Amino acid sequence: MWNIAVETIYLFLPAYIANMAPVIFKYFGLLKKLDVPIDGGTKFFGKEILGPHKTLRGVIAGVAAGMVFSFFQFALAYSAKPFSVTVSFPFQTAFGSIMWGFLLGAGAIFGDILKSFVKRRLGIAAGRRWFPWDQLDMVLGGIAFGLLMYSFSWTQVAVLVVLTPLFGLLINLVGYGLRIKEAW
Ligand code: CTP
Ligand code: MG
Repeated sequence: MWNIAVETIYLFLPAYIANMAPVIFKYFGLLKKLDVPIDGGTKFFGKEILGPHKTLRGVIAGVAAGMVFSFFQFALAYSAKPFSVTVSFPFQTAFGSIMWGFLLGAGAIFGDILKSFVKRRLGIAAGRRWFPWDQLDMVLGGIAFGLLMYSFSWTQVAVLVVLTPLFGLLINLVGYGLRIKEAW
């Protein structure tokens, strides 16, 4: 039982990393030139399309971080001992793992953007909490895109859907504590 949970989370780590990357890049002031809202501030029926918190920097940082991280997982799993780890990682080529990181990263970021679009339609301001969708957005997006390369079992989907909001709350609390996030 715990094995499945640990392996599923490990497999899905590139999506979590991608989801955290925008906040980390913002915190350290990286890629400042790309810190522009994706929607360009345009309105849609009088409401923001995505709002100011969805930036090009977040997209680039998220997808890139997912790709770098999954390559790292590949290297860790298939490098010579003593560096290799025993947690299973199903992608056995560098290209395959980087593709996996790309899909999970892009899926997580896309899910997050789609959620912001829905939040704005509902009149929920950027940065306001919308539990549990603020947490599930990246899970559903990551799974949807990830399915192009890997068939998640229903057990794995359940693990991700149940555990992510718990981890998400924890991460948000840290971001809130560091004054990066306006709400936890
Ligand atoms: N972020 C970004 N670009 C993205 C996603 C996130 O720059 N594509 C940064 C923003 O600084 C954002 C922070 O990461 O404030 C946290 O992201 P998230 O929680 O997804 O955004 P919210 O502030 O909750 O905005 P929304 O209400 O639109 O979900
Ligand atoms: Mg949020």
